[in-house]
Amino acid sequence: MIDPKSHILDLDLMSLSQVEAILDDADEMTKILNSDFKKTEELKGKTIITLFFEPSTRTRSSFEQAGKILGADVINIVNSSSSSKKGESLYNTALTIQSIKSDVIVLRHPHSGAPYFLSKLLQESTIINAGDGMHAHPTQALLDMYVMKKHLGTLKNKRIVFIGDISHSRVVRSNILGLSKFGAKIVLCGPQTLIPPDFLSNKHLPENHPFKNIFYEPKLNDAIDQADVIMPLRLQRERQDSGLLPSLREYSTYFGISLKKLQNAKPNTIVMHPGPVNEGVEIDHNVVHGQNSVIQEQVFSGVAIRMAILKSVTQNKALKVE
Ligand code: CP
Repeated sequence: MIDPKSHILDLDLMSLSQVEAILDDADEMTKILNSDFKKTEELKGKTIITLFFEPSTRTRSSFEQAGKILGADVINIVNSSSSSKKGESLYNTALTIQSIKSDVIVLRHPHSGAPYFLSKLLQESTIINAGDGMHAHPTQALLDMYVMKKHLGTLKNKRIVFIGDISHSRVVRSNILGLSKFGAKIVLCGPQTLIPPDFLSNKHLPENHPFKNIFYEPKLNDAIDQADVIMPLRLQRERQDSGLLPSLREYSTYFGISLKKLQNAKPNTIVMHPGPVNEGVEIDHNVVHGQNSVIQEQVFSGVAIRMAILKSVTQNKALKVE
């Protein structure tokens, strides 16, 4: 039976030292990724099943790559070709996958909470949350923090600016949980209709509140001034109600990151994006591929981080979630 603490559901369930252990191990995994022979036997005999009910390029392929490099067998199931299309419930689908002897189920699902639901019901498979609705995306946040630390050295007091559709972003939610553990200063910027109402006033939280390090800044130039990291976000239109924005053009004019607007930031600011990018909306092509961008480094590091995560959950190390 799986220790319930072994699941990776979100970063609030992990201690700072557990997060640091994964980031540290990702350094070792990066060495394997950069070597000529990218294969180990650390997960030999383990079976990982990716179960994706939403589209994905980065997360699904990097989990597959991570598992295969470590010697695991990896089976990919996507909603469009699974028996869920014939009416099978999530629970029965997951139970079936467990019965064919999966060790790890990597789940992406449009419903917030779906991985928590399975983690309570399955007795023999470890669940990794690969994105649940607009709730959480912990492995993305881990890889984001890994890249930030590589460039900034420390995250303490660093100014990390998230721009755009904060309300519907599971990436921001998990990043907030993780970055707060490291003492980063988090700035949320975007139209008021896309910011959770609790954050619209910067006077809402008591001094000792764990999210006292989060600030709302409505003007893009003020937000990116002195930023160490700028992370524009895709408009999550699949999760938005209508009427939140007058037009994409207006959004892009005020909040899209162009080379011209980037001149208001420090020259060494790093530009990140969890992907997929909608070029010309939240960020311009020449910023995505420009000298401040570390977007492809995020993708590369996603494999190393997921290798470290798969190791931690299958080898039952002291990385268990508290
Ligand atoms: N960042 C992210 O989750 O990308 P995918 O949807 O391509 O997996």
